[in-house]
Amino acid sequence: MELQKISARQGNHNLQNYEKMRETFNWEDIQKNFSWNETGKVNMAHEAVDRHAQNPDKKNQVALSYSAPDREEDITFEQLSISSNRFANVLKKYNVKKGDRIFLFMPRIPEFYAAFFGILKTGAIAGPLFEAFMEQAIRDRLQDSEASVLITTPDLLGRVPQEDLPDLEKIILVGDHNENSDTYIDYQEEMKSASPDFAIEWVELEDGMLIHYTSGSTGKPKGVYHVHNAMIQQYATADWVLDLKEGDVYWCTADPGWVTGTSYGIFAPWLKGVTNVVRGGRFTPEDWYGTLDKYNVNVWYTAPTALRKLLSAGEEAVKKHDLSSLRHMLSVGEPLNPEVVTWGLDAFGLRIHDTWWMTETGAQLIVNLPSEEIRPGSMGKPIPGIEASIVDNEGNEVPPNQMGNLAIKEGWPAMMRAVWNNPSKFESYFINGWYVSGDSAYKDEDGYFWFQGRLDDVINTSGERVGPFEVESKLIEHQAVAEAGVIGKPHPERGEIVKAFITLNEGHEKSDELLEEVRQFVKTGLSAHAAPREMEFTDSIPKTRSGKIMRRLLKSWELGLPTGDTSTLEE
Ligand code: WT7
Repeated sequence: MELQKISARQGNHNLQNYEKMRETFNWEDIQKNFSWNETGKVNMAHEAVDRHAQNPDKKNQVALSYSAPDREEDITFEQLSISSNRFANVLKKYNVKKGDRIFLFMPRIPEFYAAFFGILKTGAIAGPLFEAFMEQAIRDRLQDSEASVLITTPDLLGRVPQEDLPDLEKIILVGDHNENSDTYIDYQEEMKSASPDFAIEWVELEDGMLIHYTSGSTGKPKGVYHVHNAMIQQYATADWVLDLKEGDVYWCTADPGWVTGTSYGIFAPWLKGVTNVVRGGRFTPEDWYGTLDKYNVNVWYTAPTALRKLLSAGEEAVKKHDLSSLRHMLSVGEPLNPEVVTWGLDAFGLRIHDTWWMTETGAQLIVNLPSEEIRPGSMGKPIPGIEASIVDNEGNEVPPNQMGNLAIKEGWPAMMRAVWNNPSKFESYFINGWYVSGDSAYKDEDGYFWFQGRLDDVINTSGERVGPFEVESKLIEHQAVAEAGVIGKPHPERGEIVKAFITLNEGHEKSDELLEEVRQFVKTGLSAHAAPREMEFTDSIPKTRSGKIMRRLLKSWELGLPTGDTSTLEE
């Protein structure tokens, strides 16, 4: 395969000389792109929105090109600046201050973006929650963050817990409703009377901006805390990796409930001032191709799970559309199979560029650059300014081609600054000056990184991170379930699926109906993507003598693999 050949539609890339850039680069070089470099006044909302709104050449450019089955809207930078000013005034009126946590639980409708930047303009910290979360998932996150305001829609309100949230003072409802207690604020009404002018709260680069909850192998989801400084790396990668240029139309398919949907669905494109396509609703291959065609998308950032669906829809589906505007395609979230890269070259005449990073890293770290050779199956090489390596469990680097912990030298601009309320969890990521990712990988002689798997029990299903502990906790809340063990089982389209093993309490009979009932219990209590797609009864769950579930052993049984060291297994 001739992947070195650059397609006719590529060529003039923002980052040309990778090797030289790595040698000479300094993060301070990026600062000149920000207004705070001269004014000293910092706020992400200013750089991503207001700065363009104040520029006569850009203010009428479409910032957000929104479409859903029932609604279409184009919103300019100036309009977004005004609507987020209004929202900031609403928050101010209800005493929201710098550092407060304000959460959003709503679909990605235009009001989301006004509210999101309104939050940042007050200096408060935004917490976007994925629309598919159910009550337990929402309660955990609002409790841990001690959020004081939640913005949601009447449709989703039924899933918002009504008790056990002592810090939650106000709920802002976007859409028609009949709630009239003091807790509720009507979005439309307040926005109408709010001033379109707002004196933005200038912050420090190191002040809090965003919390994303993400799953680990133990405990409840953790609040990964990001600061305004992340913009430096988000801007740089928008330039080098997304290869965005003035006048581009860009589409990122991720929901802002996940980090890809904020870092690259909001910040990166708008820091670069390009038009951002946002699509609501569920996708079919026809919707994907149709959107690329209709909006003349130039740069597309998506996930392997979507690309695998397109692949199985066949090449005919692509050929029905005019995709000649498409110049650059990228992927993130799970391993990008080499056959998908090969197929992409046939179907689109373009290479698909894999990128690796995590919620905790805030921005891309290891990537396939548009100007570099691609090795299908490899995540690529670290961006300029980033030192990546493979280390052993003591944090010592290992030679090329040897597997180990994928690790990053501490201290890049977009790195999380804390795990909310949990300093020891934060500390546990770092060994000997390295941030240890939890992924295993190796690096070849030429510096390309190759993903091997997760080293912990975290499950990656269709690009979404699921913590087995969270699912196990929910399972045992069901009256019939005594114990539960949850693993990720390999799956051709979804990467992994959630599989649960359960034991029953006295007086309950094993049946398919019961399995389905328990599955629904997780689905409606936690979220659809965390609900086990496969379940099985077992007579006992293997545990260590200290009582830890041995998921590794469950997985070996499931896959028919040797069970390895079982010396710590309980009798
Ligand atoms: C985990 C992070 C921020 C991106 C969205 C996911 C896996 C991510 C790749 C890739 C293989 C990947 C890793 C990582 N992952 N990108 N290109 N190839 N695996 O963010 O939910 O925080 O998950 O996703 O296992 O640790 P996340």
